[in-house]
Amino acid sequence: MVNLVRVTDKNLELAYKIQKEIFPEEPDYLFLKGAVESDDKVLNHYIAYVDDKPVGLTGTYTEKCDKDSIWLSWFGILPNCRKKGYGREMLLATIDMCKKLPYKYFRCYTHPVLNASAQPLYKSVFQLCEKYQNPKDVPCDWIYSLSLTDEKVTKWDDKYIGIKEYEQLGKDGEKYRKEHGRQS
Ligand SMILES: CC(C)(COP(=O)(O)OP(=O)(O)OC[C@H]1O[C@@H](n2cnc3c(N)ncnc32)[C@H](O)[C@@H]1OP(=O)(O)O)[C@@H](O)C(=O)NCCC(=O)NCCS
Repeated sequence: MVNLVRVTDKNLELAYKIQKEIFPEEPDYLFLKGAVESDDKVLNHYIAYVDDKPVGLTGTYTEKCDKDSIWLSWFGILPNCRKKGYGREMLLATIDMCKKLPYKYFRCYTHPVLNASAQPLYKSVFQLCEKYQNPKDVPCDWIYSLSLTDEKVTKWDDKYIGIKEYEQLGKDGEKYRKEHGRQS
């Protein structure tokens, strides 16, 4: 059974190591670090353990432009632990946490090619999938949505997310680690 342990300053390096192994091309150290240092109670990441072994990472955050939605953050299972059911279990555990919070919708943006392995799982768990086409942002992502209440799920409808800025933060994070003598 997957057990979620919150990321704090004590296990931040382990969380980053896991993030980088799952997303070698696009880790985002500063987002993980910012979450640890933030007062925002729903901006959190969790290391997933099976017994004493870390198997993956998940998290939640919100976008300022919409108070009704909570988003899935940095969701992935380590390559050598995949296809054992941990991904589904970790996603359902993250959703259960969100159901206890005052949000109506659980959402996730994902790239159809870069995150191809996640599409079948997302299709089977979420209720709605729409193409994100805000002309001011990075195109070609999909947004999956799920209702956390009895109300019907609604579309995100292309409100600006700022994927561009998240990608830049990822690049800045690698630079930050080099400048601060951290192993990347
Ligand atoms: C997506 C991911 C978390 C799935 O983790 P996992 O532990 O292998 O998933 P599970 O074993 O719980 O499988 C869940 C379902 O997805 C399917 N699946 C898993 N890997 C798959 C793949 N590579 N291709 C197609 N389907 C896949 C399984 O068959 C399973 O379907 P079922 O429950 O109907 O039998 C994992 O592949 C991963 O970390 N991918 C890279 C990171 C990523 O892209 N994350 C998404 C960011 S938006």
